[in-house]
Amino acid sequence: MAYKGISTKAVHSGERPEPTGAVNTPIYQSSTFRFPTDEPRTWEGEVPEGTYVYSRQSNPTVEVAERKIADLESGKRCLLFSSGMAAISSILMAYLGKGDVMVSQEDIYGGTYNLFRNHLPRLGIDVKWAPSDTEALIDAITPRTKMVWLESPTNPLLRLVDHPEVVRAAHEQGAIVAIDNTFATPVNQRPLESGMDIVMESGTKYLAGHSDLLAGAVVSDGFDISPVHEKRSVLGGSLDPFASFLLERGLKTLPLRMERHNFNGMCIARFLEDHPAVERVHYPGLESHEQHELAKRLLSGFGGMLSFEVKGGRRAAENVMRSLRTIKMATSLGGVESLVSMPLNTSHRPLPPEERARMGITDSMLRLSVGIEDVEDLEADLDQALRAS
Ligand SMILES: Cc1ncc(COP(=O)(O)O)c(C=O)c1O
Repeated sequence: MAYKGISTKAVHSGERPEPTGAVNTPIYQSSTFRFPTDEPRTWEGEVPEGTYVYSRQSNPTVEVAERKIADLESGKRCLLFSSGMAAISSILMAYLGKGDVMVSQEDIYGGTYNLFRNHLPRLGIDVKWAPSDTEALIDAITPRTKMVWLESPTNPLLRLVDHPEVVRAAHEQGAIVAIDNTFATPVNQRPLESGMDIVMESGTKYLAGHSDLLAGAVVSDGFDISPVHEKRSVLGGSLDPFASFLLERGLKTLPLRMERHNFNGMCIARFLEDHPAVERVHYPGLESHEQHELAKRLLSGFGGMLSFEVKGGRRAAENVMRSLRTIKMATSLGGVESLVSMPLNTSHRPLPPEERARMGITDSMLRLSVGIEDVEDLEADLDQALRAS
């Protein structure tokens, strides 16, 4: 059944009729499945949906979460992976090979940057870098470009790329475009609706929402992602049925959680912007964000991620982190609980200092994943920690 509203999709899309009447998805914790006929054989090529042979290829519990995410993203097909990085590497292996050129945004998640910078060249894939600037990205695309990699909003500066424009330009040159939609989630941004070929998400973050699993998703609408499915089977980055069950459970409350993340994110961004111990806040919902108008056009909510710079440099920023009590000092994001980290020594640690500086990641920068707690408690915690710095 086709649902109109995103909250109904989150609760019901993907569910399968259960003969027992179970309202939740059973966990098919089985690596293998009995052949459905007396034929002693397995399939050649892709296994048809609804037929199961071996869980590295497909699993009924995983398929429920896949169908739900596909519907949430306005897509037709989703493939789940054991982590966001497994999803990214399988996309690259599926479409790029020796001699191919990929254009990538520069200020992307540190793990993705590390893969592109240090590992792809060893496979003979040439990565051309462009800043998170729509015109610069479009200028970098040539007829030799096989793929364009985008991340918007970016980690940790919350910069945006006018991705529908990049898609138009890339398609004119025959290039595939993929976007990491982890920060926005399908609640705040659905790039497939404006022609994006592939949407990737780290399911570890908002999709699952409780910081209790690792997962990655690859979603498409018309674009054929069968090669990514094949790579998942070959490379083995498939998602475990139990993690998939937890992910699907988390997805049911995604729109509700995002409503609160959007609200809390805006409140905390304003609070920090007015705080005397804070130098600068990066949040696309603030009028002071240099791409605020673009953010209003591309996003239906500004999310729970922000970064800010503390007056007094690295020592002061470290003191703030240490003094926080409700907000925990940890890497990762998108969970119900608020987390704080320093891009300098977490997500962007693999980068040389001069590259970090060029991207605008300063030594006094803290990244905040604003959770769904009561905003007054978060403000009180931030206030006492900033005063202690
Ligand atoms: C924007 C973004 N993309 C991808 C990833 C990688 O996802 P995972 O940790 O699930 O492999 C992360 C992880 O922090 C991320 O923040």
